[in-house]
Amino acid sequence: MILTEDVVFNALKRTWQPVANSESLEAGKVMGYTLLETELVIARFANGAVLAADVACPHKGARLSAGCIRDGELMCPYHGWRFDEKGACQSIPSLLEPNPDKQALSHLKTYATQERYGFIWVKLDPSLPANGEAHELPDIPEFEDARWTYRMGPPMKFQAGWRREVENYLDMSHFAFAHSSTLGVSADPRIRDMTITVQDDGGYQMDAPFPALDNNHEMPGKLQSAHHRRQRSYLPNFTTIRQSFHDGDERVLVHIPSPNTRESCTCFWSLAISPGFRGPAPESQIEFAVKVLDEDRQMCELQMPREVPINPTRGGWGVLVMPGDTLANTFQKQLRRWLSASVETKVTPN
Ligand code: FES
Ligand SMILES: [Fe+2]
Repeated sequence: MILTEDVVFNALKRTWQPVANSESLEAGKVMGYTLLETELVIARFANGAVLAADVACPHKGARLSAGCIRDGELMCPYHGWRFDEKGACQSIPSLLEPNPDKQALSHLKTYATQERYGFIWVKLDPSLPANGEAHELPDIPEFEDARWTYRMGPPMKFQAGWRREVENYLDMSHFAFAHSSTLGVSADPRIRDMTITVQDDGGYQMDAPFPALDNNHEMPGKLQSAHHRRQRSYLPNFTTIRQSFHDGDERVLVHIPSPNTRESCTCFWSLAISPGFRGPAPESQIEFAVKVLDEDRQMCELQMPREVPINPTRGGWGVLVMPGDTLANTFQKQLRRWLSASVETKVTPN
């Protein structure tokens, strides 16, 4: 099947995608975010409710992301029109008398939101894919277990398509090169004992031993030691890495490249650390991960074209070697299956 980038974005519009870390949007804050080429205003009201709506004001199109919360309502910076948490227009200051008809016409186009795992998620399109199953977030119990320690990573923008980023996150053969200044020059570039299994939900899982690393410049300590790595990917772009160390300690990372445009994405990520973890403090683990992720950003931004082709001809995904590129291939194959299923028919719920 020939797929297009429109098909990709339309399918992703029916999935939950992160747009902000919850903690960065305190009550009274208004921000902008471009999700799948849709420019949004995201605002949190005094009662904690989050509004996600098209950014253009219904009056003259000013970006509401430049507005503010005034007396409990979202106010446009241009002529002061105000909207409540559901997007209903509550006042048009230039009118001598309220005009309910004009206000009704001025309702913002809003989108479903939810907060989970420390992120604000938006679903742009409520219609269902051909299989009739609404996209839901996977359950990651470690992130909802009070005994574990959580830390949110700062979102990082990549000038590269979201599939480039997914591939990078799955890539086991770049550590010794792209991360030589953080993870260590002695990282073994050879891939061994990698097991990939396709899951019932269409996602896939990779299990592999991760070798001990050695680096004189960085001292992540425990994080350099040999461990077992389990990577679980949920389509289309939600990945977790579970690192199990020999002493029983564990870390789980959640990682989602939220597509901004066809050639840029923002990585949202967070970390769950098992109870009594013997190793660096959570803050220094985040600090170290930021350095590693920034190296990944540089590699993704070096790649041509900026997005992985969705219809590879022979060699269209590049010159591949096994087993290093097997996981990226699994991603592309499973993604194509998922996309093909999503375009068969479109069912709109009543
Ligand atoms: S453009 Fe928003 S109130 Fe006029
Ligand atoms: Fe990397």
